[in-house]
Amino acid sequence: MHRQISPEEKTILEELKSGMASLSDARGQLIPLLQMIQEKLAYLPPEAIEMVADHLDLSASEVFGVATFYNQFRLHPPGKNPVKVCLGTACHVKGGDIILENFERKLGIREGETTADREFSLERVACVGCCALAPVAVVGNTLHGAMAPSKVEGLVLRIQIEKDKQQRERLRNESKP
Ligand code: FES
Repeated sequence: MHRQISPEEKTILEELKSGMASLSDARGQLIPLLQMIQEKLAYLPPEAIEMVADHLDLSASEVFGVATFYNQFRLHPPGKNPVKVCLGTACHVKGGDIILENFERKLGIREGETTADREFSLERVACVGCCALAPVAVVGNTLHGAMAPSKVEGLVLRIQIEKDKQQRERLRNESKP
């Protein structure tokens, strides 16, 4: 599915495109250009891949191939609540993959993806240094140890409830005279 880029991202891409016109079009510039775009947008949307391909006279699939080869590049925007599930050895042994699968099911996305409302993104990570608490998941900045499939729903729900609450408060404040 091709995710729509936001109007702000479109403006940033247009600025980058005009800046790029004065940069070298040598193929060796491929990675620096992708890094430059990712620094501004935090990920590489398909429009960015095409833009770089045009500039370097490469095919979009060649650029896409490089972007997917390197772990440093993200092809999906980070969610407001990034979920990282540890699949280091200790967590894997204690069922980290089942935790990941439960998040995938609950959020309706696969590992490496972001929900359509950009609230959640999901990724697997290597050891986060708290093996005694395995299996571990990090949601936003909070580490959750001794994860169990039954805890996944509660964690997601808590964030959704908090978001609804903030939205209601915002609306209430906006409607104040
Ligand atoms: S393996 Fe998961 S915290 Fe170390």
